[in-house]
Amino acid sequence: MGKWRSLLRLMPFVRPYRGRFALGCLGLLAGSLLALPGPLLIGQVTDRVFLGSRSLEQLLVYLAVIAGLYIVGYAVSIATQTAFVRINNLVVNDMRTAVMSKVMDLPMSYLSGVEKGYVQARIQECSSIGTLFTPSVISTFFTVVQATMAIVTMFVLNWMLALVVVGLAPVVLLTSRSSGRALAAGAKENMESTATLNAACFEIVNGIEDIKILNGKAPHLKLFAEKIARLVESGVKLGRMGVVFMGNILLVNNATSLLILFVAGLLILHGQFTVGLFLTFSQYSTQVFSSTTSISTLITFLKPVCLGTERLYELLDMAAEDGPGAHELTEPIRRLDFEDVSFRYGDELPLVLGGVSFSIDAGERVLLQGANGSGKTTILKLLLALYRPTSGRITINGEDSCNLRSADLRRRIAVVSQSIFLFHGTVLDNILLGQQGKTRSDVEALISRLGMERFFSRLADGLDTEITQSSSSVSGGQAQVIALVRALLSDSDVMLLDEPVANVDAEARDLVVGCLERGQFNGMLIVISHQTEGLEFLRRRIRI
Ligand SMILES: Nc1ncnc2c1ncn2[C@@H]1O[C@H](COP(=O)(O)OP(=O)(O)OP(=O)(O)O)[C@@H](O)[C@H]1O
Ligand SMILES: [Mg+2]
Repeated sequence: MGKWRSLLRLMPFVRPYRGRFALGCLGLLAGSLLALPGPLLIGQVTDRVFLGSRSLEQLLVYLAVIAGLYIVGYAVSIATQTAFVRINNLVVNDMRTAVMSKVMDLPMSYLSGVEKGYVQARIQECSSIGTLFTPSVISTFFTVVQATMAIVTMFVLNWMLALVVVGLAPVVLLTSRSSGRALAAGAKENMESTATLNAACFEIVNGIEDIKILNGKAPHLKLFAEKIARLVESGVKLGRMGVVFMGNILLVNNATSLLILFVAGLLILHGQFTVGLFLTFSQYSTQVFSSTTSISTLITFLKPVCLGTERLYELLDMAAEDGPGAHELTEPIRRLDFEDVSFRYGDELPLVLGGVSFSIDAGERVLLQGANGSGKTTILKLLLALYRPTSGRITINGEDSCNLRSADLRRRIAVVSQSIFLFHGTVLDNILLGQQGKTRSDVEALISRLGMERFFSRLADGLDTEITQSSSSVSGGQAQVIALVRALLSDSDVMLLDEPVANVDAEARDLVVGCLERGQFNGMLIVISHQTEGLEFLRRRIRI
């Protein structure tokens, strides 16, 4: 859990920005080098000017040099930090896009088993990995250079005092090692609690209308409060670990300052050390300890980043729905066969379909019938390769559909599903979704050919009616007609309609049934419907 080498897996995300990254690193290195002469010069001012010449001219020269160093250091620091802020944002966004893209490629057998809010939270976790690329974290690596140079200079100035500083530095590192492991465990618990809470929030927001209707506020709030309590508990634990860790570091730092003051004080009293050298030494030791503290903090806080990376790759490494050997479906769908297909949604769940077999040829018009829960919608999902048969096989033009690229298959199959989901945007956006090379005029031409102008003109803003997720600006029946137009526009070989007239009024039913009956679609037509009235033109019936 939280292994260091997992950070190496972030390389592909950094690679596109390697030029910028290298420049940023150079800037950090330059910044570290520019910080080195400061303490030495301050020590010299003290000994040579304040306790020596007392010359204003000499003081001004020293001040000018120190100020120059500070100004150049400031400019380098701003430029470098800005570069890293950019890298951080770019990398995090690339990660989020990669996760989102992967999530959309994952098989439904996985996706239907996890809460949507949970997946959303996992995508958000990318920002925690991004902390690795923040300027403060990256600059920590470069404080090592600064600290090493400071140590060398200290040994040159006084080896005894240098030993005190160097001897205590590992104590800080050891303190952080043990805290790091505990923090990683705490962070994992915290991430998991956040993801589960997110899932609960998502469910409540999604089902808010039903919660109101069913008076379901109290049980949902109870569940929410339980999840919040778990998150608070893990957050407090994590926060406490962080506070103790920082406290321990402060303790060791203070002890060292005291020790330096004591040893340097003795040396000064015996005339073996100057006040200026003490000042120089104190500043260098501050540099060494701030570097040790940064590294310890980094080690501790990088553990959650390692963990976040592991969780990121847990998702990215999952098998996508298409196997590596899936190939293109180049020709139109002429025939499909269900060969003794059985299916269950999960290993522990009962069989939904048991040995279903049928064949349908191009141009056939079929009514698929069966009782509620008999598996009709499941058959459509299997046809669309959203799920794979548990046993038996489905062939398209004689080829096992598992070997075909699912995107190709879906491009050739149009669907009006039982529960229609309209996306944020206009009605037109929804109709054009996924359609290649189709425009508004194609949609308008189709609507006019179908005789649906009056129906669409009744929508609040016609084709430009806005669909929002929070308020449905179209009714269930209207959505069904919109989905039918979308399906008819797609020039597909197969059309699957799942209960297309279940929610529509007489006028809309006549529109839907009428356009199918009049042959507006000439490919393979499969309709699932409990109602058979008006569907007599579907000559072939398949019962499951
Ligand atoms: N994602 C899922 N996970 C687990 N079980 C599921 C899932 N989807 C459907 N089922 C189960 O599979 C069975 C068949 O469902 P399906 O939706 O295919 O039935 P249907 O014939 O279309 O019913 P209806 O006529 O009511 O639309 C049902 O028992 C249902 O509970
Ligand atoms: Mg169904």
